[in-house]
Amino acid sequence: MSKTYWVETYGCQMNVSDSELMEGVLAAGGYTQVASPEEADVILVNTCAIREHAEQRVLGRVAELNRVKRMRPSTLIGVCGCMAQRLGAKLIERAEHVDMVIGPDAYRALPTLIDQASKSGAVVDVELDPAENYEGLELRRKSQVSAWIPIQRGCNYRCTFCIVPYTRGAEKNREPDAILREIERLADEGITEFTLLGQTVNSYRHGSWDFARLLRAVARTPGVRRVRFTSPHPNDLGPDVVAVMAEEEAVCPQLHLPVQSGSDRVLKRMARRYSRDEYLAKVELLRRAIPDIALSTDIIVGFPGEAETDFEETLELVRTVRYDDAFTFKYSPREGTPSTRMSDDWLVPDPVAQDRLERLIALVRQIAYEKNLAEVGRTVEVLVEGRARRGNLLQSRTATNKVALVPGPDAWVGRYLRVALTGTTGATFTGFPVES
Ligand code: SAH
Ligand code: F3S
Repeated sequence: MSKTYWVETYGCQMNVSDSELMEGVLAAGGYTQVASPEEADVILVNTCAIREHAEQRVLGRVAELNRVKRMRPSTLIGVCGCMAQRLGAKLIERAEHVDMVIGPDAYRALPTLIDQASKSGAVVDVELDPAENYEGLELRRKSQVSAWIPIQRGCNYRCTFCIVPYTRGAEKNREPDAILREIERLADEGITEFTLLGQTVNSYRHGSWDFARLLRAVARTPGVRRVRFTSPHPNDLGPDVVAVMAEEEAVCPQLHLPVQSGSDRVLKRMARRYSRDEYLAKVELLRRAIPDIALSTDIIVGFPGEAETDFEETLELVRTVRYDDAFTFKYSPREGTPSTRMSDDWLVPDPVAQDRLERLIALVRQIAYEKNLAEVGRTVEVLVEGRARRGNLLQSRTATNKVALVPGPDAWVGRYLRVALTGTTGATFTGFPVES
């Protein structure tokens, strides 16, 4: 009888893509996917370590999965990804029913690790491998419509709040040929939308290839209709990349450009390596070249030493840029990162951080609503991704990366439609297909 697996994913796009990789490795090893953890021989939880809250959630879920294991003692539970890398063997001390702790560079060995765990007890593999790019492995992709393409792993920046350089190691870039061949093959299979992934995706460099060159080559690959990339670091965003975005029709008018703070004092302490004005100049550059570009960002409030005036500068920056969307976070100290060694006097009390977070969210939502309301009545092209979770509607996406729900048959999945936007909830749209 064939062995079965269940994979759960938390965290960022890179984790979603890594789970597709893990599933690919398992499938190649003779495992088949099942519809619930209760039926699985192997349960893998792909985890995130970016904030304390993210880790607590995962620990709760792993504890819950212990119930499955009590009913079916032969089931093996593996914790993978950034939290596994961060905690290593300590994870097994904290949760004894965990059989495997597997870091982001150890997925190639999954079948071997599973074998070991089933024969001789708990295994931990959290060796970071500067050479592991997972070349030659087949991903088990969830979507037939769009594909995540990791082009880079790890990060060479050292933002003082961030655990990623420690859990994923130094930046490593895939060979351009391998990336382009993969995209050609997927385009042949009918996938038309591609998102290039990396922690600082636009710092990509391989031999004579830089990110601008790669982006152009991807955009010109036959069959490719939409290209996105995430997340760029503002420092690595130059006129060359912006020119490719403006010139290549396939590159979507959309960018997630993390700013983190609008205050120079805070940016400096975060070691982001740009000033507020430099960031705003990049936004200017983008808007001049691509006037209808949709911009989103990440913002942290309550970073050590953030004064009310610093926070107001963040609000002011949000009002200036008028983001289409923003992910907002309360600073969460991560063990081992430089920000945890800053003066205790700098700590922002939680109620203050919470209050700032709420004010920021209110502003972000209001601006997003105003911007989206202004779109209602327009006709745009969308790509149909699948059935929406609720209602008898299809979920589709605009080139600007916004969701539009439209009526239509399943046969439209994967198609591009002209859609009149009829309404907005603030974040998403409703729309109606029109004759093109
Ligand atoms: N370079 C990555 C970002 C990594 S983490 C990428 O964009 O692909 C994603 C976001 O989480 C960061 O941009 C930051 O806003 C937030 N974040 C990271 N560390 C954090 C911390 N310690 N506390 C709160 N938010 C954090
Ligand atoms: Fe983290 Fe900064 Fe890299 S946010 S992933 S250290 S660019």
